[in-house]
Amino acid sequence: MNAWTGVILAAGQGTRMKSDLPKVLHTVCGRPLIGHVSNVLHEASALGIVAVVSPEMAEMAALRDALGGEAGIAIQSEPLGTAHALECAKDAVGPAGTIVVAAGDMALVESESVSRLVQSHAASGSLLSILTAEVDDPHGFGRIVRDSSGAVQRIVEEVDADEHQKLICEMNTGLYCIQADWCWDELQKLGKSSVGEYFLTDLVAAAASSGRVSTESVRDATEALGVNNRVQLAEVERVMRDRIRRRHMLSGVTIRDPETTYIDADVEIGRDTELLPGNHIRSGTKIGAGCVIGPNSILRDCMVGDGATVISSHVESAEIGERISVGPFSRIRAGTRIEPGAYVGNFAEIKNSRIGSGTHVGHFSYVGDSELGEDVNIGAGTVTANFDGRDKHRTVIGDRAKIGSDTIIVAPVKIGEDASTGSGAVVNRDVPAGETVVGVPARPIEHHRNVRRKDDGE
Ligand code: UD1
Ligand code: CA
Repeated sequence: MNAWTGVILAAGQGTRMKSDLPKVLHTVCGRPLIGHVSNVLHEASALGIVAVVSPEMAEMAALRDALGGEAGIAIQSEPLGTAHALECAKDAVGPAGTIVVAAGDMALVESESVSRLVQSHAASGSLLSILTAEVDDPHGFGRIVRDSSGAVQRIVEEVDADEHQKLICEMNTGLYCIQADWCWDELQKLGKSSVGEYFLTDLVAAAASSGRVSTESVRDATEALGVNNRVQLAEVERVMRDRIRRRHMLSGVTIRDPETTYIDADVEIGRDTELLPGNHIRSGTKIGAGCVIGPNSILRDCMVGDGATVISSHVESAEIGERISVGPFSRIRAGTRIEPGAYVGNFAEIKNSRIGSGTHVGHFSYVGDSELGEDVNIGAGTVTANFDGRDKHRTVIGDRAKIGSDTIIVAPVKIGEDASTGSGAVVNRDVPAGETVVGVPARPIEHHRNVRRKDDGE
């Protein structure tokens, strides 16, 4: 095994994105570009990772989130070019060893390509090895210039390429494996390019002069797609989306209509789960085995247990237990836990609540900041009025309670086990276990009978 450190160059301004957000923090399938690159380097067994970023980026929490806690950060105070950027990583990387340099926007490169480059670099004893790609349209990229024997001479950038060189279809992906001690010396010697930047690609000629450059080619040309503008961002996302769907299908997920199925990079889905058309399955979601999702569900940051069904519903930061059915047309919001055996039907909004096993919220209703025990029945039109204009309050409903249609529960309220409310009741006091309350405001049914008797007597 060859130990190596990954260096991600990410301090460029990304001006072509026309954005207030640094380019490498733009997301593709729910993950920042630089997060994809760092994952690939980790997958290819990087010993450590150093990201070279601008001073402003170094302060951003989103950068830390994308890289994970262990990455080193090196700062390039001015974007003087890719060679200068790499030089800024010197202290963080250390004087010797092997480094793999990648651009922060090459989200589609595969770890297999990186590993292959590292291996051939070591086997060939090269000073510098380049990951290349054969593409139909190399416009805008650095071209690999070879001599008549096929040996690499240098890389020529688009701005400097002559008519002949512009026809070369072997391009530089921007990923290299380099011998560190040699590289730190050579970087010192590089001059500015024709556009006034220090080009990392100019290192190639130096290594070539001692005949110690090698190349490996990516298996699939899409790996070389970088992101310089938002058109390319969309292209890269399309390729990534396709790869993600293929990965899930090959591991046993049925996707009825891949074209309308959007799955973020970190989503996990169990086998024999079926995704119907029109789903958006976003970051942080784990779906169990044998589920049916959709059509047209949106899930983000949630856990869905085995055998569950989520029809045309929106679920965010919530937990849906095994074999639960949700929807159509319900919204399950943050902090909700629906326990196995419960049922949530149509037009229900549930926020920050626990729905116990066997409990039914079958029809249009709002349940917020509530604790619903087991086997509770929530009638159609029930609303937990949890907000008094200033604070949020909790509703607690005990096991087997029956909440009549159109009940308004003015929290904070506790409704005991086996208690019931009549239709249209406005419950603004606790209801003891076993008691039935009716009316506005809701009072025990006995109380109403007494009042009626008194009225009759007079
Ligand atoms: C670069 C390569 C080109 C290759 C292409 C592949 C050079 C000179 N050219 O061109 O041969 O075909 O990538 O996509 O390297 N960066 C810094 N500091 C800087 C400048 C850039 O950190 O001062 C970072 C950028 O944030 C980016 C990466 O380096 O992530 C590459 O820079 P970019 O400007 O995108 O290079 P290209 O013009 O695409
Ligand atoms: Ca680029």
